[in-house]
Amino acid sequence: MSIRIIKTCKEYNEWINETEGTIGLVPTMGNLHRGHLSLLEASLKFNDRSVITIFVNPTQFGEDEDLSEYPRTLGDDLAQIFELNQSHNKEIAIFIPNEKEIYPNSKETTYSDKVLRGELEGSVRPTHFDGVTTVVRRLFEITHPNMAFFGKKDYQQLIIVKKMVQKLGLNVIVKGLPIVREDSGLAMSSRNNYLSEAQKEEALTLRHTLLEVETLLGRDPLDKIQEFIQKKRSEQNWNYLELRHPFTLAPIENLKSGAVILGNYQVGTTRLLDNIEWGTH
Ligand code: PAF
Repeated sequence: MSIRIIKTCKEYNEWINETEGTIGLVPTMGNLHRGHLSLLEASLKFNDRSVITIFVNPTQFGEDEDLSEYPRTLGDDLAQIFELNQSHNKEIAIFIPNEKEIYPNSKETTYSDKVLRGELEGSVRPTHFDGVTTVVRRLFEITHPNMAFFGKKDYQQLIIVKKMVQKLGLNVIVKGLPIVREDSGLAMSSRNNYLSEAQKEEALTLRHTLLEVETLLGRDPLDKIQEFIQKKRSEQNWNYLELRHPFTLAPIENLKSGAVILGNYQVGTTRLLDNIEWGTH
């Protein structure tokens, strides 16, 4: 069993032909942390072969977001993958394509979720999800996965990708995996690298507030909980704090199907995401 570093679609097709079995896809933009590794670990467990992609996708960055500033840590990423596979010894492709491989002709959007693209994260990043769906669709097309693994920290992304798979009738099982947290409870994210120790402390308000809302769910009536959320949201630094339907992300009218509490909290210039699912299991 081995790890192969692959840069082109042609090399990837050769790898597919030379190896056998089901394929699990872990799409990433690199700068790997334990959250990404948990996705790869799940892929290794459920599949004969796994492909982890490292591609900083330009189409999901807005005009005011600096693509060139996105952390690129390839050496460290590779070391983490090699170390993880020591205890698994499976077939892994690390696909590190350039832009031409992913977008040979145009970077035009090939799938857009008209309902959710402008909600929550999309309310301040209006083209972000078009870029995500377009690249994920393309990665599916190139890598032919049986399963694809996404972290639940980016909950909206997960729901949008699941919807896309269903709408386009794609033959891929999309798995959402639990958020991996630092010891403090802070959700693991590449964006945490931008935070000082003091800002990491400040960031815990996000986690603590979501936990407070979770305590109220199942105890208080929905209108009381919404009042509490509204009050919190009016405090400093919240980009949003919302209760939504856990599968559709529609605004919630009752708690019959459970709920997801979604928050985005601003620390300095960094927008931090977190969420808690409630009553869905
Ligand atoms: O979650 C991410 O890192 C990215 O949005 C993804 C899914 C790799 C697409 O570029």
